[in-house]
Amino acid sequence: MCGIIGYCGNGNAGEAVLQGLKALEYRGYDSSGIALADQDGVMSITRSVGKISALIEKTKNNLIPSSYGIGHTRWATHGAVNEVNTHPHTDQFGKVAVVHNGIIENFEELKENFPLEIFTSETDTEVIAHMIALEIANGENLLQAVQNTLQKTTGSFSILVISELNPHKMVAARKGNASGLVIGFAEDAISVVSDITALTNIVEKIIFLDANEYVEISSKETNFYNATGEEIDKKTLLLPFEHNVQNLGQYKHYMLKEINEQPETILDTIRGRYQSDTGSINLQELQLSSEQIRNINRVVFVGMGTSANATLVGRHYMERFAKIPSEVDNASEFRYRQPILDRNTLVISVTQSGETVDTLAAMDEAKRAGCMQITICNNPGTQTTRIADSTLYMRCGQEISVASTKTMTASMILMHALALYFGKIRGTLSPETEQHQINAALHLPVAVGQALELSNQVEEIANYYHSFDNFLFLGRGLGFPIAIEGALKLKEISYINAIGYAAGEMKHGPIALIDSQMPTVAIVPRDTVFEKMISNIQQIRARQGKVIALVSHGEKSLNNLADEIIELPEVDPLLAPIVTVIPLQLFAYHIAQKRGLDIDQPRNLAKTVTVE
Ligand code: AGP
Repeated sequence: MCGIIGYCGNGNAGEAVLQGLKALEYRGYDSSGIALADQDGVMSITRSVGKISALIEKTKNNLIPSSYGIGHTRWATHGAVNEVNTHPHTDQFGKVAVVHNGIIENFEELKENFPLEIFTSETDTEVIAHMIALEIANGENLLQAVQNTLQKTTGSFSILVISELNPHKMVAARKGNASGLVIGFAEDAISVVSDITALTNIVEKIIFLDANEYVEISSKETNFYNATGEEIDKKTLLLPFEHNVQNLGQYKHYMLKEINEQPETILDTIRGRYQSDTGSINLQELQLSSEQIRNINRVVFVGMGTSANATLVGRHYMERFAKIPSEVDNASEFRYRQPILDRNTLVISVTQSGETVDTLAAMDEAKRAGCMQITICNNPGTQTTRIADSTLYMRCGQEISVASTKTMTASMILMHALALYFGKIRGTLSPETEQHQINAALHLPVAVGQALELSNQVEEIANYYHSFDNFLFLGRGLGFPIAIEGALKLKEISYINAIGYAAGEMKHGPIALIDSQMPTVAIVPRDTVFEKMISNIQQIRARQGKVIALVSHGEKSLNNLADEIIELPEVDPLLAPIVTVIPLQLFAYHIAQKRGLDIDQPRNLAKTVTVE
């Protein structure tokens, strides 16, 4: 949540910070602000409510010439969405400016050390600016002032600070694990950003700031320090991927673009990993030995939101192919229930961003217990990839829309590959099944392409249903995670109350909701629970509920039972979730579009959730 950026370089800091904020906008878009310093270090601050475009408009033609500055795009945690609560925050004399991402847990207590009337905002951030200013007034330089201040705080966050009292310097700091920061080096500039994707194309080298580290930056150099204030050497990395993707092309929204990219992204995910000629799975990124894989006694999948929904599919694969007892844990609950873990437990985290704080906290818990860890992640170099022993990259390219689509299909495929790989090593998978599953996976780009051709039909259905305010999504077996995901997609971008249930659960409560105003989306592939799904649909119809049924290719038996039938392309039943989710992504998209909503940046949400 919240994106922060700092820039030290040539005389165009304003443009550079605004450009960085635009790239970070997906992290939060309630309000944004910028602090620039002139050649004497005198600061000029502009804040604006709404999206970055409002800040750009407000600063048009009046950005001061500046070689360094900081910026922030906000996802509100403490205090309403208004200009007063917008970052940068300053001390009462406007001499110290701070941008902040994360949460300062003891801010109320820290505020008690100052007269209440000096506070202008309701945020947890402002007190930091007052504390740093006080430290400088007591003779510390900016770096020491930030270090002393952060020692008094609790919580997990990152900050960027500049000050007129110690000009031509910028200090960036991380407290705890949440809220990553990366420093990018170009020939004539140094940037600090919360997300690697916001670095400009001219940046070639990067350094990740780790938890509880500080960096002091001037236009020419950076000096890094650990939590106890000792100067440290940091490893410089080459920027690991191209990031020139912020381009809508023919599409109206990134969500639609990303949905349509899936045949290609799936190809990238499976490329080289599924080998039809050798009938084997190649996961060379995996750092686990065959002995370690044979010793795994349990797999725990962790993730949040869409990534958590994907893990429900992953669990099926792991149990079926590798025969390892597997469980799925909502990452935010994991550490609070004191899970029983040991060195032979494998924890698999699934995360598009690699920065979700709940997932990181679950991984920390697993690390403390000495578990083996794999992360399935899309963003190179992010925090989960640095905690896990091995990373399986989704290879989807940047996902910009807040609603995850292409990364969900990629993560389901990677869990499928992993389960096949483990199954072979553990002797629980026949060569025939492995070969069959590999061939079936290689067909996925085609099947997903065919599913995308359903877009017009789905749009017509959305035309009729977009004004309904409540939806039920039902599925069984591998259809259940997709039912939950269909409901989540609809909720998050169309603000419709949608709930996903295991179909068997329906008669234990949700059926009370059914009437002509509560349509049901039912996932009804021709599988072992097909007849049971039919009974559920009959129960809904008996209560005047409308039914949109997603059925297997060629299935005609529901023609007189459901109001709408979406016939899915042919696919291996075990890989069906990867295809079934496509029309549900399209359904949510078309409904939100008919409702005239902000599809790529839905209200109250952010792409990367770095607060608990
Ligand atoms: C997906 O559409 C949501 N925006 C959200 O649930 C997301 O999946 C969740 O926040 C987890 O993010 P991650 O994959 O980056 O960890």
